[in-house]
Amino acid sequence: MNVLLIGSGGRESALAWKISKSELLDNLYCMPGNPGISSVATNICGDPKDFAAVRTAVLEKNVDMVVVGPEDPLVNGLRDFFANDSSLKDVLFIGPSAKGARLEGSKDFAKDFMSAHGIPTARHFTCTSSNVVEGKAFLAGMKPPYVLKADGLAAGKGVLIMDSLDDACKMLDEMLGGKFGNASSRVVIEEYLDGIELSVFVLTDGKSYMLLPEAKDYKRVGEGDKGLNTGGMGSVSPVPFADASFMKKVEDRIVRPTIEGFAKDGIDYTGFVFIGLMNCGGDPYVIEYNVRMGDPETEVVMPRIASDLLAHLKAAAEGRLAEEKIEIDGRTALAVMLVSGGYPESYAKGHEIDGLDSVSEDAILFHAGTSVRRREDGSDAVVTSGGRVMAVVTLADTLPEAAEKTYREIGKISFQDAYFRHDIGSDLRKYL
Ligand code: AMP
Ligand code: GLY
Repeated sequence: MNVLLIGSGGRESALAWKISKSELLDNLYCMPGNPGISSVATNICGDPKDFAAVRTAVLEKNVDMVVVGPEDPLVNGLRDFFANDSSLKDVLFIGPSAKGARLEGSKDFAKDFMSAHGIPTARHFTCTSSNVVEGKAFLAGMKPPYVLKADGLAAGKGVLIMDSLDDACKMLDEMLGGKFGNASSRVVIEEYLDGIELSVFVLTDGKSYMLLPEAKDYKRVGEGDKGLNTGGMGSVSPVPFADASFMKKVEDRIVRPTIEGFAKDGIDYTGFVFIGLMNCGGDPYVIEYNVRMGDPETEVVMPRIASDLLAHLKAAAEGRLAEEKIEIDGRTALAVMLVSGGYPESYAKGHEIDGLDSVSEDAILFHAGTSVRRREDGSDAVVTSGGRVMAVVTLADTLPEAAEKTYREIGKISFQDAYFRHDIGSDLRKYL
């Protein structure tokens, strides 16, 4: 098979790495890809927002399957574009239609979907400029802290948690006034869920589903989960508190009703569903749906899939996922993200990265924000080109061993002002 993967981050590096191992694969292409991905795939220049460029690549390279990494192309209708084009409609496709992608593209839509299908989630009220008084009354009726969410995509910044009612009311006005542009012309006000978070990943053909390994990510920039939110500073899989009885509740109360909900609501959904969950005293509640894999969770999920992912994706895209069985590596995978000093605020780019060749063979490097620069002597240097530069991942029998291994390997890589958190996974040791 010829496969085209869409995207360029650490998540796509991990998907490319895993797909490249499949016996079903002839050629793997990635648009636009990154320097790390080029060791397992052929990068194709182009912006995935430009659907015509995706179309040209698919036809020129005889692509049999498209796998979409990020949410934007899906929310913008790439799947529908394929379905409506006579030369693309038979290409296998991993990613939902625009209607399905609204689960991530509109928090209000996701909330309505959950209430319609009895899926446990925080109580909420959706506020627009026409019902601000009711919105503030809803806030006043809740205990602090207060959770305000921009309805639309806001580059991961649209959720605000405020300690005082006064600040929450002011923030509501600011959001409705355009703090996140059109994305916050509607605001979902939500009850605060007190618990510990995890990410659950499902592959579905719209009828059956396959549970992938779960993971926990670390969003804050500072150790002890302090400081600003980032795109993710590290991740761990499996999650020790997600034991069999908790995961059974997740499947019975959330995963199955979600997949059945797609069919009942006429949502054409082939692809990944990422369910962000809060474990509140042993009961799971949905915080959010995403219509893609997580980043940096994919960097620990892929190394734990022992079976052929491409075979599972092909079966999903062909509507016969029920025939497939996933095999999971029981070891722990632990990823730490090397980032540019200053991230998630301003940071420099273009620093040469040293030590990439000294990393052990059983450690995996997933590039996220790197590019290649030609040195004066004609050789190529890998340099930083983003805030999150690369994930270093290892697998080991236990979480402490995986942490020790990953931290040993990450210490071999350096660039000017490199930063990483030293405590990834340490909060989970009490559950072991
Ligand atoms: P989201 O962008 O929906 O992933 O939200 C960002 C983060 O805000 C989540 O990962 C949670 O840590 C937190 N969060 C969102 N909704 C709630 C809630 N209802 N209660 C507590 N924390 C929440
Ligand atoms: N790790 C969270 C996300 O990918 O949205």
